[in-house]
Amino acid sequence: MLIFGFLSNKNMEYFLVVLAALAAVEALDNGLARTPPMGWLDWERFRCNTDCTNDPENCISEKLFMAMADRMVADGYRDVGYEYVNIDDCWLAKERDDKGRLVADPVRFPNGILGLAKYVHSKGLKLGIYEDFGTKTCGGFPGSEFYLQLDAQTFADWQVDLLKFDGCYSDPRDMQYGYPIMGKFLNMTGRPILYSCSWPAYITNYTAIRQACNMWRNYGDVQDSWDSILSIVEFYGQDKGNFSEAAGPGGWNDPDMLIVGDFGLSIEQQKAQMAMWCIMASPLFMSNDLRKMPQESKAILQNIHAIKINQDPLGIQGKQVFGIGNLLVWTRPIMPKGTTAFVVLNKGTGGTPTKLDLNVDLLGQNPSGYNITEVFDQTSLGIFKPSEKITISVNPTGVIFAVGTPV
Ligand SMILES: *[C@@H]1O[C@H](CO)[C@@H](O)[C@H](O)[C@H]1NC(C)=O
Ligand SMILES: *[C@@H]1O[C@H](CO)[C@@H](O)[C@H](O)[C@H]1NC(C)=O
Ligand SMILES: *[C@@H]1O[C@H](CO)[C@@H](O)[C@H](O)[C@H]1NC(C)=O
Repeated sequence: MLIFGFLSNKNMEYFLVVLAALAAVEALDNGLARTPPMGWLDWERFRCNTDCTNDPENCISEKLFMAMADRMVADGYRDVGYEYVNIDDCWLAKERDDKGRLVADPVRFPNGILGLAKYVHSKGLKLGIYEDFGTKTCGGFPGSEFYLQLDAQTFADWQVDLLKFDGCYSDPRDMQYGYPIMGKFLNMTGRPILYSCSWPAYITNYTAIRQACNMWRNYGDVQDSWDSILSIVEFYGQDKGNFSEAAGPGGWNDPDMLIVGDFGLSIEQQKAQMAMWCIMASPLFMSNDLRKMPQESKAILQNIHAIKINQDPLGIQGKQVFGIGNLLVWTRPIMPKGTTAFVVLNKGTGGTPTKLDLNVDLLGQNPSGYNITEVFDQTSLGIFKPSEKITISVNPTGVIFAVGTPV
């Protein structure tokens, strides 16, 4: 196998011990991601724009990440839980240095990643970075294959707090070994580094993935459109092989970034994405321009009632319980005991709200019933017995997001 090319015999022995140890643990044990991680990531909104000459405000540069860190603090995102500022692809220089180490593009990152990390930390935030398990990143910059341990150490030396590890330009058969090894090399640095893997996008053994990674992508990249959001929700609703059950404190399925505040979604659709990402216990990484946020989008992203459901300490990923016509019904058990969050999503585009008479026993059998409250604006919908029905009216391409608490 290709990836073993760089391992000495000593490392190989160590690696076998590592595999034995990994088999005994359930989740990656680095103390991180006890609830779904939250932050900001540049990729969906800013892509691989390296043209700082003509587009200095939007190119991938330390200035962009510093500006976003500033906004995260000044506009209240940090205070509601958004914590990581993540660099995605295209931050690298085209070549490693003469010692084989990775180098940030010196023009776009004049203070290096360490300088940026210090700035981000001074704001009470954490810094994430991107690399790739293959020979090149998806954008064609130097990949980590044959340099896994050196790169893990480099990231730790730079005080990085999260690694998103992509899978372009690699042989998927190597991933079941390579991704856990990179995780072990991160662990060996002694610095807690949240490990975000793109591995299941290529191969899906969720037991192995949960042992190795704090979060993992398992579907295509999100795009700036409602079609994209709906296709992700439908994939999560199908829950092939019950991958929802792999989620829990320490490790999470990652349906990709929030595009709330971008160009493609109406306000109804932005609320729908937020509600679904909360019910699915998804990592909440915004990819938007925090310098130009519509007030309504900011309010959706900072809704503390929605975030509280996303961050519920039980860490149970919600499931689609049924679909009827254009409506999808999802539930998620949350704290305190017996409480259920639910979403009714209307896929329909007919221009009038669709009504659903929902059996309240969907929430359980508590004889004195459930107090049902809409999440975003905390409107009380009333108290209902399990034998009753509640009539829910859902706008086209929108949601009703609510919680039923036993009374
Ligand atoms: C490394 O792994 C060990 C055992 O799983 C764990 O106890 C420790 O906290 C980890 N350290 C870091 C820095 O992730
Ligand atoms: C999945 O990974 C686990 C843990 O490494 C392993 O025990 C199991 O055999 C794997 N399953 C398959 C189908 O490969
Ligand atoms: C998934 O869960 C359902 C319901 O609990 C069960 O019937 C089914 O066999 C499971 N499928 C797999 C692949 O584990």
